[in-house]
Amino acid sequence: MTTDKDIKPSFLEKNDDNKPFLIRRCTIKDLENVKEINEKELPEDYPFFFYKSILENFPEAFLVACKKQDPNYLLGYIMWRIERIPSKDSLRLINKGHLVSIAVVESYRRMGIASALLLKSMPEILKKNITEYVLEVRISNHQAVSLYQNFNFKTEGVKKKYYKDGENAYYMVNKIHNT
Ligand SMILES: CC(C)(COP(=O)(O)OP(=O)(O)OC[C@H]1O[C@@H](n2cnc3c(N)ncnc32)[C@H](O)[C@@H]1OP(=O)(O)O)[C@@H](O)C(=O)NCCC(=O)NCCS
Repeated sequence: MTTDKDIKPSFLEKNDDNKPFLIRRCTIKDLENVKEINEKELPEDYPFFFYKSILENFPEAFLVACKKQDPNYLLGYIMWRIERIPSKDSLRLINKGHLVSIAVVESYRRMGIASALLLKSMPEILKKNITEYVLEVRISNHQAVSLYQNFNFKTEGVKKKYYKDGENAYYMVNKIHNT
């Protein structure tokens, strides 16, 4: 299982009080804003009902980062879902925690916001009895790959032409060892 020890220590040492942002749960009122950030920061966008359905089904791990001085001013978000699929070696069904999307507003990057979002959401998704965390990331997205490596994700394969524009994705996995 990923423990605090596996995660780059610098993220744990930073004192929350010194940060200009807060991490909190997303609410329905935030969704238009989350969608706007997604549309600005990522080439993939989703219809409103998609965000709403993720929020309704997995609210514990749908988090936003906001300005400490103004909790309605969003700086980033993260959302996960649980996928129930047959395991490779038996007929039993297993749960995977799938990182659906994460993004941080450009002018607030490199301040530890994405790391804080991962750090706070991963234990929530772990409570759903998952055997691994999984995600796809564009092979050209070095920033995100480096971020995920800090959180113990390893590249398990390449999904060819995963994105609409034809770019390949790395399939990255963080296995939980005590299952
Ligand atoms: C990827 C992204 C979420 C990182 O957000 P962030 O808040 O800047 O990340 P953090 O400040 O927590 O940085 C954590 C780590 O990410 C990596 N990273 C972030 N920005 C980086 C950059 N410009 N170059 C290299 N590595 C970078 C580093 O490993 C960094 O750790 P370090 O600061 O100790 O070197 C952000 O760049 C973003 O929103 N990108 C557009 C959306 C996107 O690509 N989402 C991922 C889709 S799969």
